Amino acid sequence: MSYGLLRPLLFTLDPERAHTLSIAALEALGRMPQSMAYLTKHYSVTDPRLAQDFWGLHFPNPVGLAAGYDKDARAAAALPALGFGFIEIGTVTPRPQPGNPRPRVFRYPAQQAVINRMGFPGEGAAAVARRLAALPGHPVPIGINLGKNKDTPLDQAQDDYVTALELLFHYGDYLCINVSSPNTPGLRLLQGEEALRGLLSAVAAANQRLAVQHQRPPLPLLLKLAPDLDNDDLNAIGGLALGTEPLVDGFVATNTTVERPVSQPGLSESGGLSGAPLLEQSNAVIAQLYRATQGQVPIIGVGGILSAADAYAKIRAGASLLQVYSGLIFRGPELVREILEALPGLWLKDGYPDLAHARGSAA
Ligand SMILES: Cc1cc2nc3c(=O)[nH]c(=O)nc-3n(C[C@H](O)[C@H](O)[C@H](O)COP(=O)(O)O)c2cc1C
Repeated sequence: MSYGLLRPLLFTLDPERAHTLSIAALEALGRMPQSMAYLTKHYSVTDPRLAQDFWGLHFPNPVGLAAGYDKDARAAAALPALGFGFIEIGTVTPRPQPGNPRPRVFRYPAQQAVINRMGFPGEGAAAVARRLAALPGHPVPIGINLGKNKDTPLDQAQDDYVTALELLFHYGDYLCINVSSPNTPGLRLLQGEEALRGLLSAVAAANQRLAVQHQRPPLPLLLKLAPDLDNDDLNAIGGLALGTEPLVDGFVATNTTVERPVSQPGLSESGGLSGAPLLEQSNAVIAQLYRATQGQVPIIGVGGILSAADAYAKIRAGASLLQVYSGLIFRGPELVREILEALPGLWLKDGYPDLAHARGSAA
């Protein structure tokens, strides 16, 4: 059934209920090889011009699923069949926790926007590790997005990231350190340069130790940033990825915003805003990060992609890879196929032979 037919039904439900149902459906489909083959045929776009290689990983295409949709890796077996070039699981916290009281997700169809204040509900790192261990394979790279438990004091936050990493090291292809969710009190304070140096050094040391212990390379370490940082913050943070001993291998930009566009007064719930109103703000952050790192550091661009044109604008701002979440709520998985089918034509029309040449052309 196409998403166009499903959407009116899903939109009669509370957004979190619709989300839970979609996860349950994908979890079941992931166990049915015939359904998986059907989904793959319907949604996958195979085009060698879309393939990208970063951090020693092969991405069959540049459009990934953003963190927050599959927090507990329930749908991880099925998601690649929807056409994604990679998927990011999480945010995973070391211990299980319930998150904030409901309702905590709100749709705004007229603005193509979402506000959420989930607060990292989840089953915890050990449960996610068990699920990822049971996957038959990794047809696309799997990122694991890590966060801290709400009741862990901020000065002990690094222990949470290290504990979660120890449990999940074997099962992911890259790590994303989330210090940018607005819904865990104090979390964004970890984006200060000194706090980040401490946190990233501790995570990098654990990553190295686990690599030696298990005789495999350390996981690429990415940092997910808020769209509410100013240019000075971004220049300082960009610097952490440069030099002879960089503390991070890339960025995911951006998370949701706590700001509200003055031109759209209806977006009144508290929490993080995503979807169409976030596009320009997140592109500005990507462009500043791109300039701060002289285009040398890969950036996963996320925030407000609802069309192929939006996806291409993110590449022009400086993104090497892309992620979507809110766009899927309004457009369904057809959005991924639409972007993938259109992207090569968009960069060729502008005279760029490939994504890498189009990257940063508007920064
Ligand atoms: C309901 C919801 C839950 C989210 N949960 C997480 C999360 O757990 N961790 C995280 O890093 N980002 C989370 N995000 C942020 C998304 O990954 C993404 O950065 C943001 O929504 C911007 O992209 P979009 O406009 O395509 O949705 C969440 C977003 C939404 C809408």
